[in-house]
Amino acid sequence: MSKVAIIGAGNVGASIASMLAFNQLCRDVVLYDIAKEVAQGKAYDIAQAASITHSSTAVHVAQDMDALQGASVVVITAGSPRKPGMSREDLLFKNASIMKSLCLDIKRVAPESIIIVVSNPLDAMVYVALQHTGFPRERVVGMAGVLDSARMAHAITEAAGFGEGQVEALVIGGHGDAMVPLPRFSTLKGVPIADILSEEALTGVVKTTQAGGARIVSLMGTSAYYAPAAAVCAMVESILKDLNRLMPCAYLLEGEYGYSDIVTGVVVALGRQGVSSHLALPLNTQERNALKESVQEVAAQIMLLNSHSLC
Ligand code: NAI
Ligand code: 2OP
Repeated sequence: MSKVAIIGAGNVGASIASMLAFNQLCRDVVLYDIAKEVAQGKAYDIAQAASITHSSTAVHVAQDMDALQGASVVVITAGSPRKPGMSREDLLFKNASIMKSLCLDIKRVAPESIIIVVSNPLDAMVYVALQHTGFPRERVVGMAGVLDSARMAHAITEAAGFGEGQVEALVIGGHGDAMVPLPRFSTLKGVPIADILSEEALTGVVKTTQAGGARIVSLMGTSAYYAPAAAVCAMVESILKDLNRLMPCAYLLEGEYGYSDIVTGVVVALGRQGVSSHLALPLNTQERNALKESVQEVAAQIMLLNSHSLC
């Protein structure tokens, strides 16, 4: 059975730990945070909650990074969350240096693990993780597309007015303002949403999706955590059970869509070895142009990091 390590026991990390435990998705969850007492408290709280449902997942706290040894999957949520008025880019330097030092430890203690990066700015952090672990691209992915697609699905459900849970939506590109919601690849009960929603409603869905994270920050004063955690758990499940489910994940491109040496959200299959394959979407000119804009946003961040020797 499997061990999942979560670095950062804040809102997202603790929510992931609880969902993994309540759904018995692995045997062991190990939580590591520099705030050790808080992490210990959360580990007790989650373990005690899980025992109510007789979950067989054990939840531990790690005193140091050595406790990550043997982890099949390492989820990195450590860093600072977005505060109101703060862009993802504001977090770039702060979180890149945290990511760098964590990845050097992961490479030492869990050299065979698959890394799921959550910390923002997401695509640039995946790039930093790849650089400092030296892991093959198949074993370092970022969570954003599953979350952004869920936000799009919810926006479509609200606009269409039918019952919940009947929409398949897809968002690719970077996890920034230029993310690429794809109405043409989104359906309600198999029907393309362009056949159901007006042009105006479709534009509204795209805007609501792109503003999904910021909207929650402005309401709660901190960023989302339930949906991000559920998205990570879906990825962990596909990896641990070798399901090869197709999911939009931040991934290092090596020629896909004409890009190389850049991380962006594309549709990949996740299995026991990490990314097992990639689904090439037949994008039209407009969609390709939108992807280009999104990729350029990430490329600018990577250039900034390079100029500060952070990747
Ligand atoms: P949080 O502030 O609640 O938790 C972050 C935790 O990281 C804190 O407990 C902090 O003590 C810990 N930490 C900081 N430096 C550390 C280090 N060097 N080693 C170990 N732990 C360390 O923040 P929250 O809400 O959990 O968000 C975490 C990150 O995830 C943020 O960067 C946020 O922007 C990002 N995020 C990304 C999403 C995505 O779609 N990719 C969605 C939601 C959040
Ligand atoms: C989100 O989209 C802040 O990236 C985080 O909720």
